[in-house]
Amino acid sequence: MTLYQRTYQQSVEHPETFWAEQAKRLPWYTPPATTLSYDDQQHACWFGDGELNICYAAIDYHVEQGRGGQPAIFWDSPVTQSKQTVTYHELRDRVAKFAGGLASLGVTKGDRVVIYMPMVPEALVAMYACARLGAVHSVVFGGFAPHELAIRIEDAEPKVIVAASCGVEVDKVLPYKPIIEQAIALSSFKPDACVVFQREALRAELLEGDYDWAELVASAPFADCVPVKATDPLYVLYTSGTTGKPKGVVRDTGGYAVALAYSMEAIYALEPGDVMFTASDVGWVVGHSYIVYAPLLRGCTTIVYEGKPVKTPDAGSFWRIIDEYKVKSFFTAPTAFRAIKKEDPDAKLLGNYDISSLEHLYVAGERLDPPTFHWLDDLLDVPVIDHWWQTETGWPIAANLPGVEAVPAKAGSATYPVPGFNVQILDRDGERAAPMQQGSVVIKQPLPPGCLTGIWRDPQRFHSAYMAAFPGYYLTGDGGYFDEDGYLFIMGRTDDVINVAGHRLSTGEMEEVVGGHSAVAECAVIGIHDDLKGQLPIGLVIPKDGFDGDEAKLEAELISLVRERIGPIACFKQVLVVNRLPKTRSGKILRKLLRNIADGKQFGIPSTIDDPTSLEDVHVAMCERSVGAAERAKPLDL
Ligand code: COA
Ligand code: AMP
Repeated sequence: MTLYQRTYQQSVEHPETFWAEQAKRLPWYTPPATTLSYDDQQHACWFGDGELNICYAAIDYHVEQGRGGQPAIFWDSPVTQSKQTVTYHELRDRVAKFAGGLASLGVTKGDRVVIYMPMVPEALVAMYACARLGAVHSVVFGGFAPHELAIRIEDAEPKVIVAASCGVEVDKVLPYKPIIEQAIALSSFKPDACVVFQREALRAELLEGDYDWAELVASAPFADCVPVKATDPLYVLYTSGTTGKPKGVVRDTGGYAVALAYSMEAIYALEPGDVMFTASDVGWVVGHSYIVYAPLLRGCTTIVYEGKPVKTPDAGSFWRIIDEYKVKSFFTAPTAFRAIKKEDPDAKLLGNYDISSLEHLYVAGERLDPPTFHWLDDLLDVPVIDHWWQTETGWPIAANLPGVEAVPAKAGSATYPVPGFNVQILDRDGERAAPMQQGSVVIKQPLPPGCLTGIWRDPQRFHSAYMAAFPGYYLTGDGGYFDEDGYLFIMGRTDDVINVAGHRLSTGEMEEVVGGHSAVAECAVIGIHDDLKGQLPIGLVIPKDGFDGDEAKLEAELISLVRERIGPIACFKQVLVVNRLPKTRSGKILRKLLRNIADGKQFGIPSTIDDPTSLEDVHVAMCERSVGAAERAKPLDL
């Protein structure tokens, strides 16, 4: 048996022994005597009687250990032409002060705080300040519209909102305060206060109940770390499900910290003092785990990058960062490399930089498509590691593990299950699939530490979305297979979730918005292939009787409606008005068939179809409007 196999086997056969050992990495206030227990729903609870504070473990502890002078954060913001280095010592003081400020606004253990901030060090300060007080943060990505923010405020009921005055994108400054005001107006729950970090690019006008970050901090005392139970929630992070209501993924504190600390060694192969660059956003799970918490738990330096892979100012930005800060592990989404490849196909800009510090390159957020894998593999002298995970799991489910034992990569595969994740493929009947046979990817209980412990205030949804399909297993929502060598291939979602430029979105939610337009009788939103962004949503709508026939106007209205309600990151830019949609005799829209046509695949006409001519109509409409690769699509029997 290889070292990986031995480690993996031990982790799934003796999870308690395995994780009790990993837990020793952390400076607990009360080390856990119990490693694994189960709640009344039979969900795993890790380290139930342990007590810690993740802010202490990630910041104060390192200062006490003599790391105070080491950079904790390198902030690099090409969009504002600014840079900043924050040492562990400075970070501890800034976090303790801001925590003192939050406490003066009445925030205590268990209270929620919504954070709506761009990629600035203050976003990390705000998150850690919540953790320091034992408060629960809920970070909302800046690209979401007021309506989406309102849904999260309504659900999380935050005592305070922490925001920046603006975000800065490639060519525009985005005022955040009006978004927050609209969101609060839309929500029936009203927070007590809003703290605004004023940025020079655009200062916000403060109203009653608003506090200026700098003023709040100036008069605040330093706050101490509050011990919390390992099972107490650290954050709620909303992610797209299959309906209009996003799911508030609840993360515990102790299990998460243990899992992240383990992953920094086993997966990211980093030592204290090393530099990690994760090009994502604090609004996503990748940002929570590998920009904010994991690097600092390991005593590394994290990079907070406020920019894009291209256009800030060019496709060499990532190489520059790796060179300038001597990055050892770099992590981003495949779409970012497709953007770079498009602008600089021969990677000429790489020649301007010395990236010899780099040891491993990691990608996630969507499958690393084989052409991009080969482009990177040919270009770089370091292993290219595609690893698969989800907001729910909080850390990778499958990866190559250089910190345990690296194996050769296979294009299109996320390699092996990570120790702790008992990954299996089940067929429709719940039987284990043979190698090469595609099925539902599930994780046998218990889920390892770090994974979601529930859906915020909705235990029923937790059960129905993840646990009900195959009792005893967590349903990932992804389809895939193991090959003969045990490599895992994740082939895409089996539900209404799509991935647009590494952003997870719900077509079901877009359908609810589109279907809400007064002229729309029926609609379907599907994700179709896009060379740059992986997938893009497109809407197919049937107008109501009495429609005035102005298709262009209706299409434009629907596009702006989705932008207003969900946000620009939905990238909803194409709508097709059709007379009919293909359906089964029981009335279910055949979305998968529509996707196959738009992607130019051969498609079979299911025997359950109500009226085959409806399919021809839609196919013709897609060809006329040059949707995806619809022109190449052919019925199987032709
Ligand atoms: N705040 C406000 N608006 C935002 C935003 C933010 N944080 N991020 C994106 N947007 C807006 C953009 O301005 C754009 O608006 P527009 O329609 O007015 O132009 C829209 O959302 C779409 O943005 P994006 O998907 O980023 O498209 P792009 O064409 O600007 O950039 C990529 C394309 C591939 C370079 C970019 O999507 C990217 O870097 N993706 C990687 C994402 C990632 O790291 N995901 C994390 C997974 S690990
Ligand atoms: P998110 O919750 O935003 O991280 O999105 C999770 C989803 O993204 C997964 O369920 C997958 O569908 C997809 N995904 C993430 N990483 C990968 C990967 N490396 N390979 C294939 N799909 C991925």
